[in-house]
Order: sequence, then C-alpha cells, then structure tokens
Amino acid sequence: MATGHITRDDQALDKELAGLLSVESFEPSEEFRAHATLNDPAIYEEADRDWQGWWASQAEKLDWFTPWNQVLDDSNPPFYKWFLGGKLNVSYNCVDRHVLAGNGARVAYHWRGEEGEERDITYADLHRDVQKFANALKDLGIQKGDVIGIYAGMIPETVVSMLACSRIGAVHNVVFGGFSAESVRERMEFSEAKALITVDGAARKGKTAAVKQSVDEVMGDLETLKNIIVIQAKGTECEMKDGRDVWFHEICEAAADECPAEPMDAEDPLFVLYTSGSTAKPKGILHTTGGYLTGASTTHRYVFDVKPESDVYWCCADVGWITGHTYIVYGPLSNGVTSVMYEGAPDYPHRGIWWELVERYKATIFYTAPTAIRACVKWGTEHPDKFDLTSLRLLGTVGEPINPKAWLWYHKVIGGERCPIVDTWWQTETGAIMITPLPGITATKPGSATQAFPGIKVEVVDERDGKPIDEGQGLLVITRPWPSMLRTLYKDDERFVEVYWKKFGKQTYLVGDAARKDKDGYYWVIGRIDDVVNVSGHRLSTAEVESAIVACESVAEAAVIGQSDEDTGQAITAFVTLQGTTAGTDEAEALIRAGVAERIGKFARPKRIIFADDLPKTRSGKIMRRLLRDIAEGRALGDVTTLRDPTVMAALEKQIQSEQAKEE
Ligand code: WTA
Repeated sequence: MATGHITRDDQALDKELAGLLSVESFEPSEEFRAHATLNDPAIYEEADRDWQGWWASQAEKLDWFTPWNQVLDDSNPPFYKWFLGGKLNVSYNCVDRHVLAGNGARVAYHWRGEEGEERDITYADLHRDVQKFANALKDLGIQKGDVIGIYAGMIPETVVSMLACSRIGAVHNVVFGGFSAESVRERMEFSEAKALITVDGAARKGKTAAVKQSVDEVMGDLETLKNIIVIQAKGTECEMKDGRDVWFHEICEAAADECPAEPMDAEDPLFVLYTSGSTAKPKGILHTTGGYLTGASTTHRYVFDVKPESDVYWCCADVGWITGHTYIVYGPLSNGVTSVMYEGAPDYPHRGIWWELVERYKATIFYTAPTAIRACVKWGTEHPDKFDLTSLRLLGTVGEPINPKAWLWYHKVIGGERCPIVDTWWQTETGAIMITPLPGITATKPGSATQAFPGIKVEVVDERDGKPIDEGQGLLVITRPWPSMLRTLYKDDERFVEVYWKKFGKQTYLVGDAARKDKDGYYWVIGRIDDVVNVSGHRLSTAEVESAIVACESVAEAAVIGQSDEDTGQAITAFVTLQGTTAGTDEAEALIRAGVAERIGKFARPKRIIFADDLPKTRSGKIMRRLLRDIAEGRALGDVTTLRDPTVMAALEKQIQSEQAKEE
C-alpha cells in the first residue's frame, strides 16, 4: 500500500521551482550530516597534505594477498603505476571476503526483469556462481591476460561473467547492449578477444531481440574469437555452431565448484572498455586491478555515504558503460552493499516503474543521468507521486551537466527536499568520480559538480598557456595522478600520450571538457571541447557517426555536429550530400537512420538530417563544423574568411529555411 501518495498541482510546483532558482546553495541537513561517514571538511586538507598516504590508507581497506612496497611509481610519466608489488584479486574483494565475514546471506542484487521477474542474488550465490563460471572459462582454455567480450545486457550473469574474468585474470571487454552487433564485432576485433559471452535474446520494451542471431550474422570470419558462450536468458531460438558455441549453463554445470582467486599484480589489466574519441575508431580504455578497485571502492563509499548493513543502493546506468562498471559492479560489491539492478527502461511497463521499484525495494540511494530526470519532469509528477519515496536519503546524477530546473525538480519531487544531491563529474578514463560534493559536508549549487574528491587535484587552465585560472572559464585538467586513472589505450600507447598528455605536458591530464570555476572555487563543467557529442549521457564521436552515414548507399559526404537539445542534452544533426541528386527524400532519411542503427546502434541515429548541395570547407578541404553549428543553431556566422567557397553557406541557409517551412 502506497503511503506516500501525493496529489500535486503541477502548475504550482512549476512556480515554486522557478522561485527556488534564486537559492544559491543547499546545505546538507543536520540529520544527514550527523550520520554521514565523512562530515568534517578537514578531510580535504588532510588528503591534500599527503595525497599518496591518503590513497594508501584507502587501498588498505581492501584485502591484499601481498602488500605493496611502493604507493606510486611516477618515474615514467604519463605511464603511472600504483601499489607496486602488491597482489590482490578483484573478485575476492567483491565476493569472498564478505562471505568469509559472515555476510553471505546479504543480498547483493535485487534483480528485476522487464516483465516483473524477480531474483534476489546473495553474496553467497555470487560466490558459488563466479567460481563455477571461472572454472568453466578455464576449461575452455581461457588464460590470464586473455580478453573476453561480454554483450549480455542487464542480467545478473553479466556481473557473474565480469567477476569470473577478474577471478582468473582474464580481461573483460563489455559492450553496451544498445550497440549493434557490428559494433560488437569491431570491438572484439580491436581487442583480439578470445571469447564472447552473449545472450540468446534480450528484452526490449515488451519485445525480444534475437541477440545471438545478430551476432552470428557479423561474427563469422573473426579468427581470433574461438568461443561464443551463450546465456539462455529468454529462450530465444538460435543456432549453435559446432566447436565454437557453448551454453553458459551447460559449461557451468560441468565445471568444478571451487576456484581459488588468482593473486593478481596491482598493475595487471582488469578490463578494457571502448569509448568514443575524436576519430572514428573507438578508444580502448585500459584499467588495472589495484588502483581501479581502490578508486571505485573509495569514491563509492564516501560519495554515496553507503552503510552496507542498511542501505539499498540503486544506480540506474547500464553495466555496459563505465558508470555501470564502477557503480553497479565494482564499487557496491567491494563495499558489500545491497543494490537494485533493473533490466528495463524507465518507461516500461509504465512511466512510474522506477518509483514503483524504489518503493518496492525501499531504495535509499538513487543515482541516474540528467537526461532521465528531464524525461521524468516531462512525464509529470503524477508518476512519482503514486509511490512512497520516503526511503530515499541520497540522490546522485552523472554523465552530463544538469540544468538547475531539473536539479530542483529532483530535489523537491524525488528527494522530498531531504536528500542531498551529488552531481558527480568523471569519465571512462578516470575510472571513478573526480569532482563531486561529499553529501555530509558540501553545500551544493544546482548545476555544479562542486569540488574535487579528496586527494584529487583539478584545475581550470587557460587554453593558450595552460596557466591556472582562479575564477573564470577554461579547460579542465587533472594535475596529479590518481589510482583509478586509465593506464593507456589498449595496444596504443602513442595515441594515449597524444590525446591526453601532449597539450600541457606529461604531468597534466587533458580532460577534454571546458569548465568554469566560480568565486567560491566551485567547478561548473560545460561540455566537450573535442568532436565528441553527449546524447543522453552517451558519448559518441562525430567522426564515428559520419563514417556510418557515408557508408550508406547514395551518400556522398556527411558532417555531424552536436546540437543542444532540451531532452537529451545534445542531439545529433547530420549534414548530408547525396550522390548525383541534391534533393533529400524521406526514404533517404530513413535509409541513413537505419544505416547508423546497424553500424553503431539505435541511440546514435541523427535526430535531424539536413541535405545540402555542398558542405563548407577550408581551402585544404577540411569541413568547418563550427559554421555548421552556427547555422544549425540559427546564430550569426563566425569567421568565414577561410572558407573555400563562400556561396556554400548561403545555399545551406536557404536549405534550412525551406526545411523549416516544411515543418511548419
Ligand atoms: C560528461 C561518464 C557535466 C563530460 C561517467 C565527460 C559530465 C564525459 C558529468 C564522460 C557531470 C560526465 N557534469 N558533464 N556530472 N559527468 N560528464 O566517459 O563531458 O561516458 O567528459 O563517462 O561526460 O563521459 P563517459
């Protein structure tokens, strides 16, 4: 029975939120502060004074088979190494030690399927399943250092697979379920994966996608891939290729029960995760064992103020992104916390499903993306107001800047004005949260990620000379190594140095975001400075989308830009020239969207397609995206003197006008 049922006047709420826009900052309540694990601001200074010591004291909270003899090796920047000589195992820290401490019966995940299926998975269950599957992997000949792909969606077996890899020292390469099979193939090829763990089928808002079948259609000739391990998730029919394909449940059944955790070197690779950069080729971000787990565990413990005995924590990301890796899997499990894991979308089977599940599992901590909050704002308060959300005590956001209005709505409607909101800034590369409030200490300002996490040093610097800016806008950089930093780009040290460490030297990590520092030293992250677009918190490279469009039949050329979008933060706009003809048709549009869905995934489809006779280029033939951005957003054009053919812009303008006339 819902006790929290509220009837609200949405118009009155709107007015109230508009009034709150003038409130500059929000202090944590006395109640929250009193019970918070960290509530003394002195922690910042303390961590700053001896930052290596601070990280070492955090790493000590993990179980090590062999202690390290050096905290940080910075002799060969930017190839930093942490906890040298130390040996540990990630799955042991995430599972075994909780079971050994007598907490095996604690639920690790309240898993909920899209159709309402429920499974409670305890730490003891994980312990059993991870050992079995780790042995099954060994039986297939998988060895330490081998790369294993995982493309299996939001099911408990995905977590079991990740942990089983870490148990034997295999390196996982998880691919987000929204990526197409072609993207999976590409990632398996780049990482030379030995095996791929996937599902027969996956739930997609009431339909079932035949995942294994799609994978088969593209994977055929990949020589390095020896096995495909299929989880029987939905009972979807699929072919099993002799000698290559095996059923997850069958190999687990045949495997031995016990599999001791392999002592891994702190610097042994834990996983590679592909993310978008400024070229069409995705970057394989490599994370290692000791430093990554230290970062994941420490930030999860303090940013979410977790109390393993009483909290029910819910991160609504997908495990296929870094947020899922760090804050669905490694952070919460290393801290022995109970989580909710939900397979479905926020609007299926209904637009209140998240809030129904908060009530059902009495979730206390809730972490999601601003895009999702904006969607909820649009759907209206009637959905959350049907459910009892009073169990919540802390809220978080990640992935993109949050607009103050959405922040205030989250604060008021979901948090009941009692929950601190942690706006957490970080990246696939950083492995863990870097800029964030500490909920029992920091006064928050809607739209600002506030301050660097203890031990982390960030700065806003001048683009030209790299000099720190005290107050104002510039480029965001991190000026001190941190344990969960990426170690390199998989098999591409050169690109690693080039992308992140060339601009300001090997001591200064170039984030790729612009940011502003205000008079109180708070950071406001503005957005990417490279050709990366952030659609609903999903990172996409314009070059990647362009190459998917150009691969479509009858397309001659394409240029992609990110345009600001009320719902998704940014949306993709594509300028396309067709072969032979200048007139774009609905069919041509449909073809392009389908092509992008097939080559990358549905989430990368352009929202707007503008057909053009020609694109603005410099004399050397480079497309001037800056001008495309101006024209798409209806701004006055910036400097056009470098343009090879100035008439192109006038033609484009006409094109856009006629497009708009058509819409009206
Ligand atoms: C953006 C996601 C503003 C930023 C964890 C960053 C944010 C990119 C925030 C990384 C935030 C992430 N405020 N912008 N709180 N969090 N971003 O690798 O542009 O998928 O560089 O990691 O998302 O995206 P990634």
